[in-house]
Amino acid sequence: MELDSEWMKIKIDPWGSFLVKDYEKLIGQYGLEPFADKLLNRIPDPNKLMRRKVVFAHTDLGRVVDAILHKKEFYALTGIMPTMDKIHLGTKLVIENMKYFQEHGAKTFVLVADLEATATREVSLKEGRKRALDFHIPAYLALGLDPKKTMFYFQSENESVKNLAFIFSNKITLNEYRAIYGNTDPPRIMSSILQAGDILFPQSEKKMPGVVPVGPDQSVHILLARDIANRTKSKFDFFPPSGLYHKFTPSLDGDMKMSKSKPQSCITIPDDIDDACKKIKKALSGARKTLADHRKYGAVPERDMSFQLLTQHFIEDDKKLKRLYDEYKSGRMTTGEIKDITCEELIRFMEDFERKMKKAKKIIPKLKFIR
Ligand code: TRP
Repeated sequence: MELDSEWMKIKIDPWGSFLVKDYEKLIGQYGLEPFADKLLNRIPDPNKLMRRKVVFAHTDLGRVVDAILHKKEFYALTGIMPTMDKIHLGTKLVIENMKYFQEHGAKTFVLVADLEATATREVSLKEGRKRALDFHIPAYLALGLDPKKTMFYFQSENESVKNLAFIFSNKITLNEYRAIYGNTDPPRIMSSILQAGDILFPQSEKKMPGVVPVGPDQSVHILLARDIANRTKSKFDFFPPSGLYHKFTPSLDGDMKMSKSKPQSCITIPDDIDDACKKIKKALSGARKTLADHRKYGAVPERDMSFQLLTQHFIEDDKKLKRLYDEYKSGRMTTGEIKDITCEELIRFMEDFERKMKKAKKIIPKLKFIR
C-alpha cells in the first residue's frame, strides 16, 4: 500500500478497541494478501494457526518462505506493550507464530515497547521495565520462545532504533500519516515511527528479509514500515518487512475480539481456573435451543465460542479436532460436553503455563539485552 491511498472505510486504530466484522473486507481495503492454499502449501510444517486459517492474511510472506526453504538468513520480530500484569489470550497466537519462525531458522527479536507505553498509556519507563521483567518476558518464554535464541531489547535503551526513527521521521507527511491512521496525535506519531525503527532495526546490521506476526489491528504499522523501507532505499536498501496476520480470538459472547473491558467474556493468561471455566459455561454456544432439536439438526461449531477456543488455542491434533467437530455438528455431542472438554484443556494449559513461568523467571537475570 502506498501512503497516499484514499481514506479507508474500515479505520484501523492500533490503540483503540477495534473490531473487524469482516476479515475479507479488511484484506481488500488494506491491500493485505489472502493467506491462500498456494502459499500455505509452500510452507514447511505449517503450524495449527496456518493450517486452520486462523492466519488469514499476509504481506509479502513469500520472501520469508523462500528464505526458510533456501536456508537463508531472515528474522522474526514482535513487541511487548508492558501496560498490564497479564496478557491476553490473543497474544498467545503471536507467540505461536513467532515460535514457528524461530524453529525454522529466524533470528528472533522481542522488544519491550516501553517508550510507546509511556507516550500512549502513561506507563513510566520504570514501571514498564519492571512489568516486562517480572511478567511479560517470562511469559513469552513460557509460551515457547527459546531464551538462547531470542534477542531482547527495551526501546528506551536501543540507540539504533531511536536513531532510525529520527531518520524515518522526514519520510512521511502529516497528511499521509492521517490517511493511514485516521488521526495525528503526537504520541501516536512518535510511537509508529519508532515502531518502524523496531521493525527495520535488525536489518541495520545485515540486510535480510523479516516477518512481523500480528493481529490485524497492528497491520498499519507494518504497512508504514514497508513504505519507509521503500522511501529510504537509496540510503539503507532494506527489504520491506513481511507481515503475517491472524484473526482475533473472539470474545466469549461472540463479538469479534476479546477485550479486557468485558471481563466476563475475556480469558487472560494467567486466569483463575474456576472463574475461567464459569465464563466458558456461559459462553455463546453453537447448539440448538432444545436437546431434541440439537440431536436432530446438530450444532454450528463455527458459532460456538468454546469450539473456537479449541480450534485456536487448545487442540493441537487436527484429527482430534475434526472428530470433535463432526460429533458436535452432527448433534451426537452436546454443548455441555464441548464446554467440559474446553475447560479441561484450559486447566491443562494454565497449569502448564504456571509451571513454565516459574522456570522462565529464573532465566531472566541471565538474559542479555541489546543496547
Ligand atoms: N505497538 C505494539 C502493541 O501495541 C507494540 C510494538 C512496538 C510492536 N514495536 C513493535 C509490535 C514492533 C510488533 C513489532 O502491541
